[in-house]
Amino acid sequence: MLVLGIETSCDETSVALVREGREILSNIILSQLEHVKFGGVVPEVASREHLRAIIPVYDEAFKQAGVDLEEVDLVAATMGPGLVGPLLVGLTFAKGLAYSRSIPFVAVNHMEGHLAANILEHPELEENHLTLIVSGGHTMLVEVKKFGEYELLGQTKDDAAGEAFDKVAKIMGLGYPGGVQIDRLAREGDPKFLKLPRPMIRDDSFQFSYSGLKTAVMMQIKKMTAGEFEQHRADIAASFQEAAVDVLVEKTIRAARMKKTRDLTISGGVAANSRLREVMQRKCDQANRRLFYPSLPLCTDNAAMIAAAGYYQFKNDGPSELTANAIPYLKLV
Ligand SMILES: Nc1ncnc2c1ncn2[C@@H]1O[C@H](COP(=O)(O)OP(=O)(O)OP(=O)(O)O)[C@@H](O)[C@H]1O
Ligand SMILES: [Mg+2]
Repeated sequence: MLVLGIETSCDETSVALVREGREILSNIILSQLEHVKFGGVVPEVASREHLRAIIPVYDEAFKQAGVDLEEVDLVAATMGPGLVGPLLVGLTFAKGLAYSRSIPFVAVNHMEGHLAANILEHPELEENHLTLIVSGGHTMLVEVKKFGEYELLGQTKDDAAGEAFDKVAKIMGLGYPGGVQIDRLAREGDPKFLKLPRPMIRDDSFQFSYSGLKTAVMMQIKKMTAGEFEQHRADIAASFQEAAVDVLVEKTIRAARMKKTRDLTISGGVAANSRLREVMQRKCDQANRRLFYPSLPLCTDNAAMIAAAGYYQFKNDGPSELTANAIPYLKLV
């Protein structure tokens, strides 16, 4: 089955062609640069840029895959969560295509797409596994019983982990998007330089909180002179990153023990973080768990993960109605 995936929930216009939920023929991702000067995503600008980009990105996906629309068996598009204007561009495009060519259509949950990135890339991953979804808008620990059947163990009470990376980067003047800049800078820094809290790390629940950590970094920076700040930029980045990663790893391993799941995955943009991958791998080895994470292009928003999620959703539940609408706060569970 050849699936055409379309993703436009935030500031990436992406179209992919994926065979049997696993083989990526093409996965074109256009990241909108228009938001950089604003230091964050401007929803109206994002909608317009999606409108401008969707057809060229679609054409490029077919060109790279070397297939034709006639060969497509299913159209899958993100319906939420995300920004309503951007979501509507991809969803409407997908529904129009499906209707005009009489191709079945599925409306996909973006978070299900993130977790499906691991299923796409790791055939050996057990169906029942634990996943940590860490992205720009979400921090969630979820037990995947099987595709489509989830138990939410916990999530963030305030900021998402990715949001905290972006905000700390902004405070430090590193630009947007900031997560990858912190990751890069932290490699040369001392993670013990700042004493920072590990919010909720000993707490029994699987909830997270990141806004206090961000504020703690801000307060410590405020106490520094400009010279101290300049000298210790890498140390500040490393200290923040270490605190953020410690909490994610500790809670994930504890949840895996409680749920007795052998396989663990991380997904979403923050799964690209090199320190998170390193520490999680070490702790998984110690706890006798197998860790999987997506390759870098499949961590952040992309349409291949939407095509994969759409494939499994269609196999389980059949097509969606063409009346499916964009739902900005769509839940996974
Ligand atoms: N190497 C990295 N280290 C830390 N954070 C990173 C890294 N690369 C990307 N990120 C973060 O990942 C986030 C983007 O991920 P993603 O595209 O999945 O989020 P989103 O789609 O905006 O949110 P959601 O998926 O919750 O709707 C940003 O917050 C970004 O800073
Ligand atoms: Mg995302």
